[in-house]
Amino acid sequence: MIHYKTSAEVELMRDSARLVSKTLAEVAKVLKPGVTTLELDKLIAEFIRDNDAVPSFLNYRGYPFSSCISVNDVVVHGFPNAQPLREGDIISVDIGVIKKGWHGDHAYTFAIGDPGPQVMQLIRVTKEALYKGIEKAVAGGRVGDIAFAIQEHTEKKYGYGVVRELVGHGLGKHLHEDPQVPNYGRRGTGAKLKEGLVLAIEPMINLGKREVYTESDGWTVRTSDHHPSVHFEHDVCVKKGHADILSDYSIIEVEELKNPHLFTGQAIELPS
Ligand code: MF3
Ligand code: CO
Repeated sequence: MIHYKTSAEVELMRDSARLVSKTLAEVAKVLKPGVTTLELDKLIAEFIRDNDAVPSFLNYRGYPFSSCISVNDVVVHGFPNAQPLREGDIISVDIGVIKKGWHGDHAYTFAIGDPGPQVMQLIRVTKEALYKGIEKAVAGGRVGDIAFAIQEHTEKKYGYGVVRELVGHGLGKHLHEDPQVPNYGRRGTGAKLKEGLVLAIEPMINLGKREVYTESDGWTVRTSDHHPSVHFEHDVCVKKGHADILSDYSIIEVEELKNPHLFTGQAIELPS
């Protein structure tokens, strides 16, 4: 069942989404080689609680941490751990909060030092694909329009692997609401998009093949070929004529640009 939000509810959700963006910006400030993802998880939990909210991932279906931190070939749902980050690692940080009863949930992938031009291109293209999907989150469209746009820009144009097993979702009073939002599909198919539908759109894109597997911890999802994977996620409200992005990457990007340890995407285009 799909829950449509009133404009007052959307404003509360914008607050929750912005808290996630602010938390990701705190992460962007401290990222550098030597930091452990467990330290980041602590910082994340504290920052969320200091802002009158609760980390929503903690204990969700038994998930044991406040964030998902997925390094290199980990696609999503990586456990924070005591391994120091290294130069050339890419790290996707996925954070969820509940504030005043409403969920925010999004993710951002950072490069710590230079992971090389192929991986930088994967990061840039996955972010672009997210925005191409968001462009389709308008009233009158369908979920398949979003899915198709993401798949076109990643699989068709660059030959990247689009993960099939994990999808985006509706967001609201619950972390996962209807409808599911796949990153692959056909235009004009799937649920109809109506004003007030809030979606977490989240491409998970592999440099190599699309196949993934879940580790014996029951959570960590890795690429089967162990090539790296990138994950970006935004919280978006469907409106008439345009999509309203509730999360705010600009807060994160300012800190990413200021941090000399973080590599940001130059406008590189590799010969295909
Ligand atoms: N952003 C992810 C999602 O939308 C993370 C949730 S997994 C959790 O599904 F268990 F950690 F909550
Ligand atoms: Co999500």
